[in-house]
Amino acid sequence: MKEKKNGHFFHFLISHAKTYGFVFPSSEIYGGLNAVYDYGQYGVELKNNIKEYWWKSMTQIHENIVGLDSSVLMHSNVWKASGHIDKFNEFLIDNKDSKKRYNPEKLIKEYVTFMQKKCSKKMSHSKKNEILSRLDQSFKKNDFSDIRVLIDELNIYDPICGSKNWTNIRPFNMMFKVKEEKGDLFLRPETAQGIFSNFLNIKKSNRMKIPFGIAQIGKSFRNEMIARQFIFRMREFEQMEMQFFILPKEEMKWYEYWKKIRLKWHLELNLGNEKYKLRDHENKLAHYASIGSDIEFHFPFGFREMEGIHSRRDFDLKNHEIFSKKKLRIFCEKNKLESYIPYVIETSLGLDRLFLAIFSSSLKKEKLKNGNQRIVLKIPPYLSPIKAAIFPLVQKDGLPEIAKKIFNDLKIDYRLIYDQKKSIGKLYRRQDAIGTPLCFTIDHDTLKSNTVTMRYRDTMLQKRVHINNISKMIENETGLKNILIKLSKQSINQ
Ligand code: GAP
Repeated sequence: MKEKKNGHFFHFLISHAKTYGFVFPSSEIYGGLNAVYDYGQYGVELKNNIKEYWWKSMTQIHENIVGLDSSVLMHSNVWKASGHIDKFNEFLIDNKDSKKRYNPEKLIKEYVTFMQKKCSKKMSHSKKNEILSRLDQSFKKNDFSDIRVLIDELNIYDPICGSKNWTNIRPFNMMFKVKEEKGDLFLRPETAQGIFSNFLNIKKSNRMKIPFGIAQIGKSFRNEMIARQFIFRMREFEQMEMQFFILPKEEMKWYEYWKKIRLKWHLELNLGNEKYKLRDHENKLAHYASIGSDIEFHFPFGFREMEGIHSRRDFDLKNHEIFSKKKLRIFCEKNKLESYIPYVIETSLGLDRLFLAIFSSSLKKEKLKNGNQRIVLKIPPYLSPIKAAIFPLVQKDGLPEIAKKIFNDLKIDYRLIYDQKKSIGKLYRRQDAIGTPLCFTIDHDTLKSNTVTMRYRDTMLQKRVHINNISKMIENETGLKNILIKLSKQSINQ
């Protein structure tokens, strides 16, 4: 029942995102493109505001973190050194009859859930645990032939065509290739490698001292074979990554520090503390990581990874030293003749996943006192695509002129909307649906007292404010400053 409700909500969310100009399917006029999406007029504003919030939290608050914008295409040796050519694989199984491709882990887990919940002859708890622990062990040992045997033993069939005609489990590299005459190039699957390959440039040009970080926001590409769940898993997406270079002996200190700081950063969004889980990776670490944990978020389809925090130790710089034959080292503070490769703590957040987290937990259907329903997007005001809307109550008596003047005076400082096309009730509803925190209505009292009606999105409460105070009200209610001050206090003692 709950699943069904979540499913309905998710469809409603996807439809709301499209109807109100947040997210569109890519190339829709040609039938769309699997796992690729475009951000519409309000989606791009929300995305830019999230980026600004992350960027300032990283680079402005932390004096020792600088930014970078490296290219998507890099020398192919980058991907040899990083291990992505050999190890960035997804292990999948095909059904020879339906020609459909599946993730074997998911196939087995879904089978177990089905046998436990829906099947008339229910599977016992001990049997379930036995299967899951064997699956876990096989994954730990990379024993895919045993997972294949397990699929046979359990008689798992293709959920679409019912056939048990499976191939072996095979690795599929997740990088997109770009064919070149002189050899293949790859679209980057993580932005981090642009940071590692610019480590020397940044260190030298900025005289950076350990510990220091390099932050980057940019597109990444992965050939996700099984891409579902809207913008959660895409083939083209954006990452907000920060690599923090440290003394090797301080690995655990900084790993714990960044786990704490990143979780706090998310909690400041006020989406509901119960929606977050910090999950340490006991197995299935990425090939470059020696320790790792995920900040998981409760999306409409359950708890899933939103951000990864890893210790990559010297995995990347060491391999880039080997492949590039350049020294990627730091001289010791005490003995300048000695040098070492710094360790790296990485924080890696998917911008689109954060967008989905914010969008899904902000979208509400509310019952009003008069029995009507309103759809409202209670986005944190400092991230809202539009900060305020300005309306004249009627299109006469000089009210549109005053409203337009207020709009023109303030539009340089804030992203605003001026609208006069509909009745005031309809104008409010539309702004609720796109998450505008404040609306200012110019009415006949404005002519007498120079005051306007200010309406809050979340409470729908209204009060009168002087025209001269509108700017201050928008700043107080929707500015990033207060939250950055709070975050700055939390991370002051680095
Ligand atoms: N540099 C480390 C790295 O890339 P990851 O766990 O593979 O680590 C980091 O990815 C984050 O990027 C994830 O937590 C997720 O938010 C986002 N991400 C990864 N694959 C994605 C995809 N196919 N679509 C959308 N976001 C994705």
